Amino acid sequence: IMANKIPRGAFIVFEGCDRSGKTTQAKKIVEYLNEHNVPSQFVNFPDRTTSTGQVINDYLRKKIELSDQAAHLIFSANRWEREPTLTKLINQGTNIICDRYSFSGVAFSAAKEGMDISWCFAPEKGLPKPDAVLLFSLNEEALSKREGFGDERYEVSDFQKKVAENFNKIKDNTWIDIDADKDIESLGVVVKDIVMDTIQRSQYKPLEKFV
Ligand code: TMP
Repeated sequence: IMANKIPRGAFIVFEGCDRSGKTTQAKKIVEYLNEHNVPSQFVNFPDRTTSTGQVINDYLRKKIELSDQAAHLIFSANRWEREPTLTKLINQGTNIICDRYSFSGVAFSAAKEGMDISWCFAPEKGLPKPDAVLLFSLNEEALSKREGFGDERYEVSDFQKKVAENFNKIKDNTWIDIDADKDIESLGVVVKDIVMDTIQRSQYKPLEKFV
C-alpha cells in the first residue's frame, strides 16, 4: 500500500554578496506565498537572536575579536542550533525561504588568508540540503550605484570581491544565477517563478542532507 504522505515544504536558499537585494526578495516572496495560503517562513543566517547569534553580532560589529577558525565554527553552530526546528517545519509542510546559509559560511570564511574551502565546508555536513539555491549577483558597476556598505566587519569592497569569487567556486550546476541588476518588481517576477517551481517539484522528495 502506498504511504499517504503529506507534501513537505521546500527549502530554498538565497545567496549572494551584501547589497544584492536578496533579503528584500526573500521577505517579499514569503509575504506573497502566505497571502496565497502557501505556508512559508522567512529565515535568515546568521540568526542574531540565539545565544551564538549574540556572539556573532558582537563579532560583526567589531565589539569582540575571535580567531578566524572560531568565528567560522560559531557561524556553523548558529545553523546547527536552528536545524531541529527547520527540519521539523519543512517536514510539516512549511516552505522555508532562507536568506544566507552554509554557502555564505564557506564563501566569507574562505575569503580570509589561510582558510580553505574544504575545511570550511566540513562542519556543514549533515545539515539539510536546500532544494534550490538562488545566487544573486551584481556586476561592479551596478554594485557601485547602490547605497554604500555599512560598517560591519565584512562590508569592504575588496573582501566582497573575494566572496563573490568563492560563490562561483562553490556553486554547482543546480544553482540558479540571478542577475540582481533589476528593479524590485522585475526581480520579484523572476524569483516567484523559481520558487513556485521548486515548491512543486520538492513536495514528495525526501529532504536531503549535505554529505
Ligand atoms: P547579514 O548581513 O545577512 O546579516 O550577514 C552578516 C554577515 O555575516 C555578512 O557579511 C555575511 C556574513 N556571514 C558569514 O561570514 N558566515 C556565515 O555563515 C553567514 C551566514 C554570514
